[in-house]
Amino acid sequence: MNNFTYWNPTKIYFGEGQIASLKDEIPAGARVLITYGGGSIKKNGIFDQVTAALEGITFFEFGGIEPNPHYETCIKAVEFAKQENIDFMLAVGGGSVIDATKFIAAATKYEGNPWDIMTTFGGAVTGAVTVGCVLTLAATGSEMNPTSVVTRAETQDKLFFNSDYVRPKFSILDPKTTYSLPPRQVGNGVVDSFVHVLEQYVTYPANAKVQDRFAEGLLSTILEDGPKALSEPENYDVRANLMWSATQALNGLLATGVPGDWATHLIGQVITGFYGLDHGQTLAVILPAVWQYKIEQKKQKLIQYGQRVWHIQETDPDTIATQAIERTREFFETMGVQTKLSDYGLDAKIIPNVVAKLKEYNFTQLGENADITPDDVAKILELAL
Ligand code: NZQ
Ligand code: ZN
Repeated sequence: MNNFTYWNPTKIYFGEGQIASLKDEIPAGARVLITYGGGSIKKNGIFDQVTAALEGITFFEFGGIEPNPHYETCIKAVEFAKQENIDFMLAVGGGSVIDATKFIAAATKYEGNPWDIMTTFGGAVTGAVTVGCVLTLAATGSEMNPTSVVTRAETQDKLFFNSDYVRPKFSILDPKTTYSLPPRQVGNGVVDSFVHVLEQYVTYPANAKVQDRFAEGLLSTILEDGPKALSEPENYDVRANLMWSATQALNGLLATGVPGDWATHLIGQVITGFYGLDHGQTLAVILPAVWQYKIEQKKQKLIQYGQRVWHIQETDPDTIATQAIERTREFFETMGVQTKLSDYGLDAKIIPNVVAKLKEYNFTQLGENADITPDDVAKILELAL
């Protein structure tokens, strides 16, 4: 196991009715900006719960944050926040709203060109307005991590930044808020959280037994309850277990002391930037292709995963590894998320564009061994057609 430092200051309020706890977290006298997306929170009663909890506190609203949030939209919010002297930002939504709010919070305090925040991957950030969250979609883990992913629509650049300044001070996770999710977003969220675990687990053995067994516990939970969230959308326990799994999948704990792959995520981000696929869709397409391409290097962990999570009874190592990949792909399909580029109307013509963009970002050594080059990415994309 590698050396590590672990620290996570985000306070979590978990469970039904916890939105009311906002009153304990937002300082009296704060000038709060409630940020949200396309309006789902106004239809499902979440906005009303939030404003009821904020009684007596001065708040403003900024809505219209799109999925895969746009830099251009965030900049409008930054202008508004400066004009109104906002000193607290409350994101109410899924990963897109939370990520956008993190960017807005950092950019509001940033003197230079706000795009610097993205091109330095957060290095330029020197402060931020405090962020709190009410999560409405179990998927990204953004509610308990320092990461934000923002797209510049003008140039089709989808990039991420990390900064502890934007890590939420608190996040409220009420599983009931997820009852109103459309099946497509349930599927995306299950695939995303599952792949977050896999990118930190199916690498090479690091003698990290706690992390491995934690990963296997999260994977087994998501596997068990993911399909139930589609068939029983108002099953509280199912929603609760999925929500907590998704948060744990990317709050940094699983990453401690182990290698991370992240090739699937980085390739997927470029595909979304260019072609608009949902984040979960890109992962469902790319992960099985990365694994197929890197099956030799990943074999030991694929076998462990196949045996412990899928309970594959075969004895031949190659068969176990191959079946583990196939079962994973089938699981994504069961969740309604298709696993080939052609399912989304894309073909081999996208390959040069994706490869060129990765080169432009200097993402030329991907994977846990930093050995996936742009040429390898082209071959991976061919496997994903
Ligand atoms: O905009 P509204 O009207 O709220 O509708 C949203 C949106 O259309 C809807 N939705 C959310 N909660 C709902 C709901 N509809 C009904 N009921 C509810 N309770 O769902 C749609 C998708 O929302 P979005 O926030 O885009 O989904 P998700 O949470 O999957 O976030 C995806 C974004 O997060 C980034 C992705 O790249 C993508 O931009 N990621 C962020 C990460 C992080 N910060 O650590 C890591 C991830 O790997 C990921 O990259
Ligand atoms: Zn993800």
